[in-house]
Amino acid sequence: MERIAVCPGSFDPVTLGHLDIFSRASNLFDRVIVLVSKNMMKSHESFTPQERKDMILRVTKNLPNLEVDIFGGLLADYVKDAGAIAIVKGLRAVSDFEYEFQMALANRKLYAGAETVFLTTTTENMYLSSSVVKQIAAFGGDISHFVPPEILDFIEKRLVKERQS
Ligand code: PNS
Repeated sequence: MERIAVCPGSFDPVTLGHLDIFSRASNLFDRVIVLVSKNMMKSHESFTPQERKDMILRVTKNLPNLEVDIFGGLLADYVKDAGAIAIVKGLRAVSDFEYEFQMALANRKLYAGAETVFLTTTTENMYLSSSVVKQIAAFGGDISHFVPPEILDFIEKRLVKERQS
């Protein structure tokens, strides 16, 4: 049986921290589906779901068992339909824990057929998040240490433009 994991997130935009989690997940599972999903708590989006998907595809070309999908519904429904056995999330600090714990419990109530698996981030990615990247770029700061080089230009142009509008 193929062991499928779903790696959900808003990825607005994808960072080196996410990329590290994707590649480690792809070592653990036969197939990894990175799922660009909607976080209802985040009202402002800088990139469209399709742009986020395209950026992830560009930076994961070296991971043959990874694919990217977009889904606007409940994660538990997607996971069940995909036949996945795991939801993989990156855990940075204690501050992530309560929120992630709540989501893991809710997802398990909705669908008990998959386990939420937390991968701890590497120390260099501990402070990294899409919102940190967005703030730095909007003020013209250097984000080259935080996002993959292939998409650096695209992200910088968009975020600077967004700030100016
Ligand atoms: O990267 P994020 O924004 O922390 O990811 C959160 C995300 C998108 C994974 C979460 O909001 C989610 O699962 N959204 C899909 C809708 C859903 O199932 N919500 C209930 C989760 S308990």
